[in-house]
Amino acid sequence: MAGEAALLFCSNMRTPVIAANWKMYKNAGETAAFLRQFTGLVAKSAHAEIVVCPPFVDLPAAVDAARGTNIHIGAQDLFWLKEGAYTGEISAPMLTAIGCTWVIIGHSERRQYFGETDDSVAKKIVAALDAGLKPIVCVGELLEHREGGLTESVLAKQCSGGICGLTPEQFAKIVIAYEPVWAIGTGHTATPEIAAAAHTFLRSQVRSRFGASAESCRILYGGSVKPDNIKALMAQPEIDGALVGGASLDAAAFGSIVNYL
Ligand code: PGA
Repeated sequence: MAGEAALLFCSNMRTPVIAANWKMYKNAGETAAFLRQFTGLVAKSAHAEIVVCPPFVDLPAAVDAARGTNIHIGAQDLFWLKEGAYTGEISAPMLTAIGCTWVIIGHSERRQYFGETDDSVAKKIVAALDAGLKPIVCVGELLEHREGGLTESVLAKQCSGGICGLTPEQFAKIVIAYEPVWAIGTGHTATPEIAAAAHTFLRSQVRSRFGASAESCRILYGGSVKPDNIKALMAQPEIDGALVGGASLDAAAFGSIVNYL
């Protein structure tokens, strides 16, 4: 009983994060227009940290438009070295220099289409933290994994390869996003119970490495989050926020997701 009460207390202490992953959508003008509308919709939303992650080239416009608001701006990826002959890459210090404060790392689309591995994810997390960026580290299984009963082993491998090599100090600064690949952009949201079970498993994995500090780690759910399912997802004590793709492109829709209460 005392243990349960302590856990409940801890879960209530986790401030939710609601983050938008715009993927390869919107130019700088569209970014500014979105934020003109969105800032007003969430100006009083103090219950959650709000993060918007546009494409790299839109970051300066986003930082400008979000200045003085409660909206944080993040990138969707970075490279782990500070500078060098790496054509096309963007480093963590380059992102902080323009006022970017968050970064998504290891999204399944980067793993699937651009060769991201648990090893590169681990290097990118450290680079982000060294520069003072807050990483949202994505993990999640494919449909074939889930159907083959491999969900837990895939999540365990992504945790041990990408996250468990961090120091406790580094771990304390990351946010994890559980994004089942079969739920991304498909309209097939994981049920709140399926998501919560995966979150519980992920927390047990990081608890076995980092101990009690696992209780303060925010674990977000991502995959077809919409205005009409966010409330049920957030009702699960294990779900500490959302990483939202498609529904974050519309200011009114993303505003109502942020204001799920
Ligand atoms: P979705 O994308 O909300 O469009 O499913 C989520 C994500 O990929 O982060």
